Amino acid sequence: MRTQVGIVGAGPAGLMLSHLLHLQGIESVVVESRSRAYVEQRVRAGVLEQGSVDLMCRVGLGERLQREGMRHEGIELRYDGQSYRVPMTELTGRAITVYGQQEVVKDLIAARLAAGGSILFETEAVRVENLDSAPTIYLRQGGRDIELHCDFVAGCDGFHGVSRNAVPDGVLRTHERTYPFAWLGVLAAAPPAVDELIYANHERGFALYSLRSPEISRLYLQVAPDEDIADWPDERIWAELRTRLETVPGWSLNEGPIVEKSVTPMRSFVVEPMQWQRLYLAGDAVHIVPPTGAKGMNLALADVALLGEAFAAWYGEGRTDLLESYSTTALRRVWRAQHFSWWMTSMLHRLDSDDPYEAKLQTATLRYVASSRAYATSLAENYVGLPLS
Ligand code: FAD
Ligand code: DHB
Repeated sequence: MRTQVGIVGAGPAGLMLSHLLHLQGIESVVVESRSRAYVEQRVRAGVLEQGSVDLMCRVGLGERLQREGMRHEGIELRYDGQSYRVPMTELTGRAITVYGQQEVVKDLIAARLAAGGSILFETEAVRVENLDSAPTIYLRQGGRDIELHCDFVAGCDGFHGVSRNAVPDGVLRTHERTYPFAWLGVLAAAPPAVDELIYANHERGFALYSLRSPEISRLYLQVAPDEDIADWPDERIWAELRTRLETVPGWSLNEGPIVEKSVTPMRSFVVEPMQWQRLYLAGDAVHIVPPTGAKGMNLALADVALLGEAFAAWYGEGRTDLLESYSTTALRRVWRAQHFSWWMTSMLHRLDSDDPYEAKLQTATLRYVASSRAYATSLAENYVGLPLS
């Protein structure tokens, strides 16, 4: 098989890149090891920055997002028995939209297939070779071996993908931090008791109240990194959520059947540079953030927005400048988001159960956010997304 850009991974990064290339008349093939049903049902992130919403609208995929997505103009911080609303839109003029990642993925898959695009589901990329001259992705599909020849490879295959491994040892630098906790995430068939997200710092650990629709709540709890989900029956989850979130007099959450639960480890991770020869890496394949800043999917989309322009300049006018500057440009946003995600994580989680000094610093930081317009604006502009380029 042959195409212009071979894309490994049908997550938000790979699918959006394929769509952007299509709009520029550039051919691509997306290969995805999982089934279509699996990627369309995988529950992950939920917060779209204004820039991600603008991108979806610009590429003709704003209709359902505008109808079903929920625009939020603030978030609430709870700590030390107090509550503070960060008025994001008042401070920045921008907002976020809550729209599940799998809805973004569904919209992109539908658009690619309607346009006759090629997405090979249940097809695993085994390895990538010949990146200096004639890139080849070796695929396995139902026991058959296939070679996909292309001009460029876009590695959009997430943290556990294979495309990064095509780069020889010693070329890439890895920066990494793991956190001594994980998030237990649940989806509950319960009308949200909130209009805006609540991020709670509690002595028993962090909790987050989010939502997906007027009928579905999305909630998270900080748990141990090796937590066994079997130890968390629904009643224990609700009891812990009540303890950590019901800290404001007169407010209570709404309970209902838990329809999905999973544990996600927390790490910060960046690989530099994001390009080698004819391989361009994007999204979780090259950087991971802890989810506290809600940045993962937004960074993936921002990477491929740049990459789409760079390929368009190459195929349209033979320009190499944007391909050459891709990694440097993308890494500026990546490192800003790394810092913000680490900062939000450090401010809100129980870090070391034996060290009350940490908790005192967190309360001091949260009080400062609540009392200083400058500090609150800094949080807000990072949360809604900085217009970096
Ligand atoms: P992915 O969405 O990971 O897509 C990569 C795709 O590549 C996958 O579909 C995978 O199946 C495919 N693939 C991998 N290897 C191969 C191969 N060899 N051959 C073919 N296909 C392959 N972010 C938040 O902001 N908030 C959250 O609550 C949140 N929760 C998360 C929960 C989990 C369990 C995970 C893993 C991530 C979460 N994230 C969250 C992060 C966010 O979902 C990611 O940043 C986002 O999915 C990145 O998109 P991507 O397209 O780069 O990668
Ligand atoms: C959601 C996930 C996040 O990581 C976050 O910071 C806010 C909301 C969510 O899934 O709704």
